[in-house]
Amino acid sequence: MKRTVIKGVGRYIPERLVTNEDLTKYMDTSDEWIQQRTGIKQRYWVPEEGNVGASDLGLIASKIALDRAGWVPEDIDMIIFATLSPDIFFPGSGCLLQYKLGLKSTPALDIRQQCTGFFYGLATADAYIKSGMANRILFVGAEVHSTGLDISTRGRDVAVIFGDGAGAICLEGVETDKNEGILSSALHASGKYADKLCLELPASRLNPRIKPEWLVDDCRHFPSMDGQAIFKQALVKLPQVAKETLDKAGLEIGDIDLVIPHQANLRINQAFQRTMNLPDEKIFNNIQKFGNTTAASIPVALDEAIEKNIVNVNNCTILFIGLGAGLTWAGMVYRFLN
Ligand code: UT7
Repeated sequence: MKRTVIKGVGRYIPERLVTNEDLTKYMDTSDEWIQQRTGIKQRYWVPEEGNVGASDLGLIASKIALDRAGWVPEDIDMIIFATLSPDIFFPGSGCLLQYKLGLKSTPALDIRQQCTGFFYGLATADAYIKSGMANRILFVGAEVHSTGLDISTRGRDVAVIFGDGAGAICLEGVETDKNEGILSSALHASGKYADKLCLELPASRLNPRIKPEWLVDDCRHFPSMDGQAIFKQALVKLPQVAKETLDKAGLEIGDIDLVIPHQANLRINQAFQRTMNLPDEKIFNNIQKFGNTTAASIPVALDEAIEKNIVNVNNCTILFIGLGAGLTWAGMVYRFLN
């Protein structure tokens, strides 16, 4: 039976460290508020002068993942690039990355699934691999949030949360009798809540798509979020989707070695931990260091957990869960087995 397995993982976090204290220079906030409400202590942003896009961060993460997989770029049958902060409006960052990897005609698919980009991306890769349409897929989740945040008191509820970064995963189809690789996935969306977390401008539904006064007076080019509404949805939907994903894999929570949740808010993940009755060593969080890196958050966390030997790549069953803009929410069970 064909299974989709991970052959290599890589991450890249830009070097500009921004502590909570640093943010107090720009807005009325405090280290205490940010840590209490989100768990975040710091995040990393791309250089202030700009000229670094999601594909640039993705390129470095990809090279690491390719190296670990023992692949060269020409081995890739397809690129799937997840980001809500593409380098430019179009074409997608996947095309830009493809060129930067020195590839000539490898297909590149961008997906716009925000915090669940990892799930939609890997489920798509799994379907392509199992159908025989591709066998080696490079998935990249990368975000440059910092250039698009309202770093003033007006935008503080959103601005303090987000960090920049990229994660990359090399996925391959293998014929095996073992119950390994992607065991199950569950994807959901509810566009009813689209306005609860969104970035409106530039908008094709408006003509013109952008007007100077909308930038100055209304700031509609910055993300806006009803944090409490998203928070409440997460508390309900994450345990639900965890159960659905486990059921699909024929597993129970006790069969899981580690939960790697999307890193949106430490309190959300702690609430999930309580609901599922998980001991501390069975859930991995790194939002404290990196903030919320959206599509990059899970691949970055997976890479760090492997590096720290928290994930044993010879035998480890992981439950991934996430929820974010869309609204989208999802789960995936993956088993490393050697
Ligand atoms: O990955 C994307 C998905 N997104 C999420 O999962 C986000 C989920 N939601 C959250 O993480 C939380 O709702 C936030 C961290 C965004 C906000 O935390 P909260 O506990 O829901 O705070 P709040 O929005 O209810 O605001 C409480 C107070 C308000 O002041 P008043 O009205 O009580 O006077 C805010 O103006 O905190 C104020 N506030 C801040 N104060 C200091 C909001 N942001 C800040 C800030 N620093 N950065």
